[in-house]
Amino acid sequence: MFNPYDPAFHSDPYISYAALRDGPSIYRTNLNGWNMVLLTRHADITAALRSPRLGRSQTMSSPEAMPSPYRAIMVLLSNWMLLKNPPDHTRLRSLVNRAFTPRVVEQLEPRIALIAAELLADARERGTLELISDFAFPLPVIVIAELLGVPAEDRALFRRWSEVLVANIDLFQDDTTWRAGSQVAGEISNYLRDLIVQRRAAPRDDLLSALVAAEDGGDRLSEDELIANCSLLLAAGHETTVNLIGNGTLALLRNPNQLTMLRQEPALIDNAVEELLRYESPVQMTSRDVLADFELPGGTLSAGEECAAGDRAGNRDPEVFADPDRLDIQRSNAVKHLAFAAGIHFVCRGSARRAEGRAAFQALLTLGELRLRDPEPPLRPTIALRGRSRIALAVE
Ligand code: HEM
Repeated sequence: MFNPYDPAFHSDPYISYAALRDGPSIYRTNLNGWNMVLLTRHADITAALRSPRLGRSQTMSSPEAMPSPYRAIMVLLSNWMLLKNPPDHTRLRSLVNRAFTPRVVEQLEPRIALIAAELLADARERGTLELISDFAFPLPVIVIAELLGVPAEDRALFRRWSEVLVANIDLFQDDTTWRAGSQVAGEISNYLRDLIVQRRAAPRDDLLSALVAAEDGGDRLSEDELIANCSLLLAAGHETTVNLIGNGTLALLRNPNQLTMLRQEPALIDNAVEELLRYESPVQMTSRDVLADFELPGGTLSAGEECAAGDRAGNRDPEVFADPDRLDIQRSNAVKHLAFAAGIHFVCRGSARRAEGRAAFQALLTLGELRLRDPEPPLRPTIALRGRSRIALAVE
């Protein structure tokens, strides 16, 4: 029932998720020799993600002990706040938040709209748009690069790096994934280390300089922590947004009545972004290790088990969302979606994510009539992150 590697499941996971939600609330399976627990109900997922009994296993605590071909990626990932438990997570997140403040996000908003407009400037004249490579990919990369203060011209590098990093935190990894990860971790570390040295010597008005200077009660980010969490921002900052823009545009084009409503009532944009995040979430699932037995209404998650929270499945749970398979940009509780997860790892600076989605859809809506040139744009192979690799559009 749950096999994300089955092409039928991959192309439409919702049929299987609905069947799983109707079954036992805790679904245990073995996939590629890996025993895992899958949660598909909104209430179970929320409870699990909020509980300190679920977190990251301790295998990342001594990355230096890993065999050398894997060491560099392990060292990098082991410093990602995303893969830490409290108190280390609390410390890293609070230091990053000292630099990545709500004011930084506010200042960014007008700039995002300008970048979006620039990227679409000649699409109408051309009459075509390859949504992913012309718009959905460059927009968040330029935004996060400008925000951090890394040269946007290096975006081809960032794309390759994040693709490899994302594969290293997908559902499964093999020897090839880890080796590619280590190669890239080395490249990223060298790249960022140089920039950190420059910013220490001559701070600028950018997030990297602010992160270098960030201080909390005398505590600061070490160089490894700075490199790791900048690489997290670079990867997390665009891989997800690309899929929000791609999946969201596809959903609107497949539901023309909703697209028309949004064109007629632009004030619906904020709720529409929440609904698009719910309807076709960029992140399909988030995983955790069960650190101590945890009771759910449907049974017990036992210490030592690995648990995947099916955020996408929870977003279509009829217990929370009426008629969940319908896209409804006026849905009053769309914001209850799990697209940003829940609990301590809830996406950093959620308002920035929303601002980017809002600016992207607003810019696309002003472009003119959009038509899908390929009714079934190809899916990317990744499991945890879900999106399309290409979406060819006609602009009329
Ligand atoms: C539509 C866009 C986005 C979506 C759907 C999204 C989704 C998520 C999710 C589901 C998590 C939690 C993963 C888990 O619990 O295992 C997360 C964490 C995170 N995201 Fe995002 N994200 C988005 C955009 C961004 C952007 C633009 C940035 C940075 C500029 C970012 C930075 C982060 C960071 C740093 C974390 C780790 C937080 C922590 O561990 O405390 N995300 N995101």
